[in-house]
Amino acid sequence: MSEDARPGAYSDGEIDTNATDNTHLWDLVEARYSRRQTLGGIAATTMAVFGSSLLAACGASDGELGDINGRVSAGQNGNSRAGKIVRLTGTVEGTNTGVVGWEQVSGPAVSLVNAGTAEASFIAPAVAAPTALVFRFSARNSNGQIISADSTITIDVAALDFNPVAKNLNDLVTVPAGYTVTVLYRTGDPLAAGVPAYANNGSDANFAQRAGDHHDGMYWYGLNAAGTARDDNSSSRGLLTMNHENINQTYLHAAGATGNGTSTPRPEDEARKEIEAHGVSVVEVARSGTGVWSYNQNSSFNRRVTPNTPVQFNGPLRGHPALKTAFSPDGTQGRGTINNCALGFTLWGTFLTCEENWAGYFRRAAGDNANRNARELAAFARYGIPQGANGNYGWASVTPASASDTTFRRWNISVDTAQPADGTGDYRNEANQFGWVVEIDPYDSTKAPRKRTALGRLGHEGAWHGQWVSGRKVTIYTGDDARNDYFYKFISNNAWNPADAQAADRLAIGDKYFDNGTLYVAKFNANGTGTWIPLTFGQNGITPASPVFPFQDQNDVLLYTRLAADAVGATKMDRPEWTATHYVTGEIYLTLTNNRTNERPLAATDAANPRHYADPKTSGSANPLGNPNGHILRLREAGDNSEALTFTWDIYLFGAGADLDAANINLSGLDATNDFSSPDGIWFARPTNPSGQIYPLLWIQTDDGAYTDVTNNQMLIGIPGHTGDGGAKTITNTGTGGATATQTTFVGAQPGAKLKRFMVGPKECELTGVDTTPDGRTLFVNIQHPGELGNPGNITSNWPNSQTGVNSGRPRSATIVVTKDDGGVVGL
Ligand code: FEO
Ligand code: CA
Ligand code: CA
Repeated sequence: MSEDARPGAYSDGEIDTNATDNTHLWDLVEARYSRRQTLGGIAATTMAVFGSSLLAACGASDGELGDINGRVSAGQNGNSRAGKIVRLTGTVEGTNTGVVGWEQVSGPAVSLVNAGTAEASFIAPAVAAPTALVFRFSARNSNGQIISADSTITIDVAALDFNPVAKNLNDLVTVPAGYTVTVLYRTGDPLAAGVPAYANNGSDANFAQRAGDHHDGMYWYGLNAAGTARDDNSSSRGLLTMNHENINQTYLHAAGATGNGTSTPRPEDEARKEIEAHGVSVVEVARSGTGVWSYNQNSSFNRRVTPNTPVQFNGPLRGHPALKTAFSPDGTQGRGTINNCALGFTLWGTFLTCEENWAGYFRRAAGDNANRNARELAAFARYGIPQGANGNYGWASVTPASASDTTFRRWNISVDTAQPADGTGDYRNEANQFGWVVEIDPYDSTKAPRKRTALGRLGHEGAWHGQWVSGRKVTIYTGDDARNDYFYKFISNNAWNPADAQAADRLAIGDKYFDNGTLYVAKFNANGTGTWIPLTFGQNGITPASPVFPFQDQNDVLLYTRLAADAVGATKMDRPEWTATHYVTGEIYLTLTNNRTNERPLAATDAANPRHYADPKTSGSANPLGNPNGHILRLREAGDNSEALTFTWDIYLFGAGADLDAANINLSGLDATNDFSSPDGIWFARPTNPSGQIYPLLWIQTDDGAYTDVTNNQMLIGIPGHTGDGGAKTITNTGTGGATATQTTFVGAQPGAKLKRFMVGPKECELTGVDTTPDGRTLFVNIQHPGELGNPGNITSNWPNSQTGVNSGRPRSATIVVTKDDGGVVGL
């Protein structure tokens, strides 16, 4: 037994509330006490009432058995469920006695809080089936001898023991009864000493020292109690590291962006603010002794990585001619990262941030095509940077006060014909510096982030690992979020060595695993199997003779990864978003958020992207035909080995309104408690607490535009089974003009009560990052772009102010904290 002596640890557990089909432990106790009283006389009835729970003194002689100065009771046997707080209360009857405390006698080991007292508590562990845990309460009798009594608590398997949140359009984060939401870290919050509070009226500057906008993928990195070093077990002090994917441009400026953001040249101060509001932040947060979470504005760990932060290139393309710019004539350095969406983490304590929709930020002048060769033109076409593009926010139009300031000029990638043809005099190659997975050490702000070119250049949504197994190669799964783009897997050349987990130079460990390896792309077959096709020069049509692109070498594969995947015939997917690893089965889950008939017409469905249908709106124009509600695919690698090059797959869930056709659209049988549309964020609970063990919880977040006439975006929790737990099904799809076609697919078992809506976000938001502390008792969620359809003259959301009843003020993205009021594991 042990005390939870960590600073700020939950010091006392609340009595858990069991599922309705189980009698509460304390109900049992109450009943027993009542009955005892009706029987009259404590001393006379204790034995009868408590039966075997009341034990005589250990090793005592016969004469002491009935000694009234030596009786203890361990309360009553009872039932609880994984993740619940269970409280044990011992009583001692008699005089001159002394409590020794509680210890565990049998069952899966738990950590007892306040074990040296009469009232101890523990978190019920994950179990595969109802499991008995026996605890012993001991005291000293008046003779100084130890006497004890036992209590048996039977723990049931994990269940989603909360009332699902109803779909709603409120300007609030809504969570189930028994949970509390607090706002932790908002757009513009100051991240350094002396930076003033965010006025949130467009007057603020210096986003390089403030929280960025559009919070997205996020991970908790523990700090020790003193706040001096990494501690993976800490649940009370840590570094939240998160992406800031994009901006609500209008709210960053007093009256919206000058000229609606489209008139050029853009004002320098506006553009600088917009640039710096992108990127990544590292922010120290902690829980007080009373359980209140806050961030530390003055922490030396706080950091912003913005699009201006120096970075370095690693892996095969480091120093490649295509990366040379006026800023980095040798092609080894760069500036910053942008449109950072989902994430990955590593066991050596680093963060992987992923560059998703970076292509839209660049200006390329009308006429630039004439200065480009055929290879460049093919790449621009495939990655979406047409000549004539101004870039999302027109940053390249700024004429800075300092002529030597190239932080705006760099967004213009047009060829300057007066400059050298190798690109070292202008920014013609700047777009090649984006589209990468970037590794950041959250614990060391002095180290430049490293762009990992071996993982390929595409619209990386995330970069999530497969199972970490000693002696097996490290794998990373990464979706390319564009319509009809692909799902990839990177297999490192190096096998995982657990000794690397605590290395002092974390980014050097990243070099070991991420700078050499092979990139593969997924092909999903009609029979429920699949193959990882290597993207290796000289194989599978990746040759100079390819009709897709004249590949010259392996560097072309990494620089123009989408084209290489085209060449090998990878399966076009319905927008691959996040991936998640089921830590028990090792299966990989992938969200496919949606697709439209323009990109995937009725005749172009396949088994892995099988639906095509109409999803009518209750008002306004109908959603485009296609797969407007998305689905979640999962795959099981052959031999349950992440290095495998073949797999089986099925579709865990199909998004749909509960009212849609159950035979062809609502294939997962969703109802009002769990219907959803357009899954995006997906994350399995950490395996360090009962929510991530044996039957792990899968958190699912939506980024939807199809069902938003009915509900704001939402977050659900599922407890999935496994690939193949359903079966094959042939559906009838419907296209333009009522045309039909059939498609066979593989549908996972319907979830029923193993999928529930846990949260609905405020107006016009998207739910993005999600993580918990290692103990699973504090949930962090990012709320991205509330009120994104409004402007300073027409504010459409007051969140997060509205969360505390203040219905005024501009909306801000923010990280929220969700805790269970009784201190138990969130979601269970
Ligand atoms: Fe940034 Fe694909 O969501
Ligand atoms: Ca996303
Ligand atoms: Ca998104």
